[in-house]
Amino acid sequence: MSGRWVVGRGSWVVVALTLAGCEHHPDPALAYAGVIPRLVSAASGTGRFTLTGSTVVVASPGSEAAADVARYLAATFGAATGFALPPGPDSAASTIVLALGGAPALGNEGYDLTVTERGVRIEAPAAAGLFYGVQTLRQLLPPAIERPERQRARWTIATGVIRDYPRYAWRGAMLDVSRHFFGVADVKRFIDLLAAYKLNVLQLHLSDDQGWRIEIASWPRLTELGGLTAVGGGPGGFYTQAQYREIVEYARRRYITVIPEIDLPGHTNAALVAYPELNCNGKVPAPYTGIETGISSLCTRRPVVMQFVADVIRELAAITPGPFIHIGGDEADVTLPRDYVAFIDSVQRIVRAQGKTMIGWEEIASAPIDPGTVVQHWRSADLAVTGASKGAHILMSPSPHVYLDMKYDSATVLGQNWAGYIDVDTAYAWDPVTRIPALGADQVLGIVAPLWTETVSTMKEAEYLLFPRLAAIAEVAWSPADAREWNEFSERLGRHGARMSAMGIGFYRSPRIPWRDAPSHTQPASAGP
Ligand code: ACM
Repeated sequence: MSGRWVVGRGSWVVVALTLAGCEHHPDPALAYAGVIPRLVSAASGTGRFTLTGSTVVVASPGSEAAADVARYLAATFGAATGFALPPGPDSAASTIVLALGGAPALGNEGYDLTVTERGVRIEAPAAAGLFYGVQTLRQLLPPAIERPERQRARWTIATGVIRDYPRYAWRGAMLDVSRHFFGVADVKRFIDLLAAYKLNVLQLHLSDDQGWRIEIASWPRLTELGGLTAVGGGPGGFYTQAQYREIVEYARRRYITVIPEIDLPGHTNAALVAYPELNCNGKVPAPYTGIETGISSLCTRRPVVMQFVADVIRELAAITPGPFIHIGGDEADVTLPRDYVAFIDSVQRIVRAQGKTMIGWEEIASAPIDPGTVVQHWRSADLAVTGASKGAHILMSPSPHVYLDMKYDSATVLGQNWAGYIDVDTAYAWDPVTRIPALGADQVLGIVAPLWTETVSTMKEAEYLLFPRLAAIAEVAWSPADAREWNEFSERLGRHGARMSAMGIGFYRSPRIPWRDAPSHTQPASAGP
């Protein structure tokens, strides 16, 4: 299939402009060229398919996973269209077909999408591909499809063919729920935003100096005391294990793996407040609500500390179906280096005994890590290379490009700037393979973009830092490197603004982007850390 856009003419534009109150595509064929992350290949024709109240969804028979994608589709498109989009027969006059099968070369997450005048067909070797096909279909429809209440619009899509699959299998974002706590509804919103851009990993930073956020039944004061605080003295909070399971299940239905992170042995003041026997001097430290790092450590040589770590990891592993446990390991500045190395080695044994693979920030590369361990690069190319030399897989979270807590520029109210200012072009115009030349392409697993929350305490604030950078980073993770070009992306993002607005995202209106829509929001003010 050629990667060139075949743009139809058609007279649809006249219809769209006469419908009140809806954003519109000037020409639905242009939607194929507008999708973020950019499609591997697509060609649109001059025919039209219109979704109506009589469209039915045909899922592969016998597949619960395909049926679940069909239910997700009906729920996602139902709000704005008011259509039921029920299951129905292949013989119906208007269909969206979700078919398992097709080209095995598309892999676990790839799909083919075909639009004819009778309907849409998404075909994929695995159900994840059907799900990503649905995400693409969302963007082929007018932006009004994103609105939470019923719209007056014509749901017209140009005919065409798409073949699409990801570059990286690991496409993630991290949410720090420790510096400020974000409740279950906020995390679900975060998951929905990841899913819309075909991201598939949610790293939850569940503990830090400022708060412990996950119930551990065998150490109850972690949340009873350690969960009470947040940056700036806010109210804190935590997830019960039942709530955590609810988050994991919500993510699973959206093909997102949750990776829980408990930060050890530094970043542990909240745990030390709850259990001072984990502290070398045995004293209760003051709760910490500032934003410095490198201020705390577990007393790694104490047997009670290893018992604590074993209990936490056992309970976490039991409620985490995914294969990974993240143990932090960063900025253990007040742990002696030899204690740190021995501690990481012991923690790795504990994680392995639970049948999980350990992930840690790049500092863990100084310890004797197993081949296959995942090392998350954020600052030091040398540590990433050391990790790779020990057989680790490298996750790319280079702070100057993907730290979503950095300000966009000097005028950004929220955020920090220790890794620099990150406007959308800086988040977009880098490559995971060339970033650290000494790493082999096959040693890079993918990308995770962290949102540390020292300066943000609401989803509105979080979304301002997330978007549009997260959309840019999703494209770095999904789309072929040779298909990415900043000027083309900036035009595409400019046309995408109306869609983000319809999604309710109060995004940063970067001056580097030729936005095509009218501004509908302003920068959130900061409550300050
Ligand atoms: C980090 O930013 N301390 C991983």
